[in-house]
Order: sequence, then C-alpha cells, then structure tokens
Amino acid sequence: MSLLAIYDHPATTASSTAASTEQAIPDSHPQPKRISSDGAVIQAELAARGIGFQHWPAPVELSPHAEQAEILAAYAAEITRVQAEASYGTVDAIRMTPEHPDRAALRQKFLSEHTHGEDEVRFFVEGRGLFCLHIGDEVLQLVCEQNDWIRVPAGTRHWFDMGETPQFCAVRFFNNSEGWVAQFTGDPIAQGYPLLDQLIKAADTQ
Ligand SMILES: [Fe+2]
Repeated sequence: MSLLAIYDHPATTASSTAASTEQAIPDSHPQPKRISSDGAVIQAELAARGIGFQHWPAPVELSPHAEQAEILAAYAAEITRVQAEASYGTVDAIRMTPEHPDRAALRQKFLSEHTHGEDEVRFFVEGRGLFCLHIGDEVLQLVCEQNDWIRVPAGTRHWFDMGETPQFCAVRFFNNSEGWVAQFTGDPIAQGYPLLDQLIKAADTQ
C-alpha cells in the first residue's frame, strides 16, 4: 500500500538537529502534518507540488524474478504512454535484493540529498522504496510499491531509502544518455527523517 507523509520543514531548522555520524538515527522524528494511504489523496497532494504519481493496473502476472526483457514487454503499452508525454531515450529495469553485495553502499549513496538535471521517473514492478522530496519548506515521504509510477521534476531536492533489506524492481526512464547522474547538496537532511522501515512501522502503529 502506498503511503504519503507530509512535514513542515522551515529553513531555519534545516539540518540543525541532524545526527553527527552517518549511522546515527535520531531518537525522535518530526511528526507529519498529514499522512495518507488513499491513492487519490496522494495523487492530489503530489500533483499540487508538481510531482507526477499514478497507480498503474498490473497488465500481467510477472514470473518471479522476471528478467528485464519480460518486464519491459509486459508494460510496453504503459511505457509507450509515458513516452508519448515526454521522450526518454533509455528505458531499463533494475532489481535490488537483500543479497545484493553493494546494498549498503548503494543505500547510503541514495540517502544523500541530491538533484538531477533531468526528471527522475520510476515505475515499481516489485517490492517498495521510499522517495523523500524536499520542496520549499516541506518534506514529503512517499512509499512507492508495486504498480506505482512517479515523476520527480528535474532540480527537485530528494533522497531515497531502499530499506535495511532492500527488495524492489523498478523500470527507469532516462532522457540523459549518461544514465544516473546526481548533484549532491551536502545537506544531511535525511538523517532527521524516518527511514523506510521506520515510517512503515510508525504508520502501522497509528
Ligand atoms: Fe535521485
């Protein structure tokens, strides 16, 4: 189930309470001013801030651990629809598993706030991940799950958490021939907000 949490993040408090080490997790996190698992609410809140979000109906049952060609073929119609709105030169599918040898290093890299010179467009085929968007004086945390499609406009400050035991497969749309290129902001903002597993746990106990 998709989940959206929205927080106020006034500029004056940015990073001031961040932990001193990369591994440290604060004892307390800010409380969201709004939290919702309603797809229509999530889409409207994100649209109001320029973020594209859609929940695509699954066209087929993918076989377990489907390979890239099978995934892209299964979603060919949806990919064509996305391409009609904006042309993406490269479309691929990536998978992250709890056994991935580089999972810890990759997790830390994506946890650093960054921007891209192009839109970040992802469609989740399996599993889930946490997109965190820093827009003006707000932070939005969005748990994307299977069949969720998101478009984060170029230049949007954001970070991503794949969780302690990462498990997801996502179709990526690039219009940059160099693939994933990020500009890191150096702001440790991510350390002041829940990680994927913490947000899910908090939502479950509400
Ligand atoms: Fe990114």
